[in-house]
Amino acid sequence: MSLLKAEDIAVHFGGVKAVDGVSFEVEAGEVFAIIGPNGAGKSTIFNLISRIYPLTKGRIWFDGQEITGLRAHQIAPLGIARTFQNIELFDHSTVLQNLLMGRHTHRRTNFLQDILFLPKVRREEHLHRHRVEEVIEFLELEAYRNKMIAGLPYGVRKVVEIGRALALGPKLILLDEPASGLSVEESQEVAFWIEDMRREMGLTVLMVEHDMGLVTAVADRVLAVANGRPLAQGTPAEVQADPEVQAAYLGTTAEAAA
Ligand SMILES: Nc1ncnc2c1ncn2[C@@H]1O[C@H](COP(=O)(O)OP(=O)(O)OP(=O)(O)O)[C@@H](O)[C@H]1O
Ligand SMILES: [Mg+2]
Repeated sequence: MSLLKAEDIAVHFGGVKAVDGVSFEVEAGEVFAIIGPNGAGKSTIFNLISRIYPLTKGRIWFDGQEITGLRAHQIAPLGIARTFQNIELFDHSTVLQNLLMGRHTHRRTNFLQDILFLPKVRREEHLHRHRVEEVIEFLELEAYRNKMIAGLPYGVRKVVEIGRALALGPKLILLDEPASGLSVEESQEVAFWIEDMRREMGLTVLMVEHDMGLVTAVADRVLAVANGRPLAQGTPAEVQADPEVQAAYLGTTAEAAA
């Protein structure tokens, strides 16, 4: 059984059919990419999986469980973490503090236990720190750990956001344009990390990305969408060669051109 399955999902905002009948399955251990022109509905697909938007139709399953009816706050504890297209970090907190906040969903202790600092709290705190230290090491963020987010270069902030998602210890990570705004060298680093997330952490990756170089380098399979509709699915080479996909990137659809 696949780790994530979306069946005929859609969300309409008034007359705007942001996503309009998209189906795909992501296998455990796979790197799966969603591509498409601006406004195609890619980020909206992430917002449907994250259960931020209500579904107009369709169903979603994760890890053998239907999540269609769940609320947004119930998604992260299942093991789905994400990054946002516009970096969402706490600017006036340090890298370490932001990563620790990424662990928040795993808190098992309550407020009173926290105040009394019971052994259970100490054990939990230790576990959080341990996971966060692993992430800092994995993403080579040692030099920045006590630096304020606001003062960091854009490329580093993008990496910290990936780190905050990884700190959760997810099974599936959703990356919304992890390479946007990055230099060629930084994009290549992101490609290495995505490979390592799969190999060393056993993660499954679902990513939205415009950089076809990165998609070709890391993705096993690709889904292309335009105007909320699926266009093609297959290997990066197959999808890039698809006439409808090529037409969509030229700002027209194959039907309109015919
Ligand atoms: N909450 C919302 N209310 C109304 N319209 C929305 C909402 N969210 C998204 N849309 C619309 O849905 C369409 C798809 O948007 P989306 O952000 O998913 O595109 P995208 O493929 O991620 O594009 P980009 O590559 O520019 O990030 C757009 O027309 C957008 O304006
Ligand atoms: Mg987007």
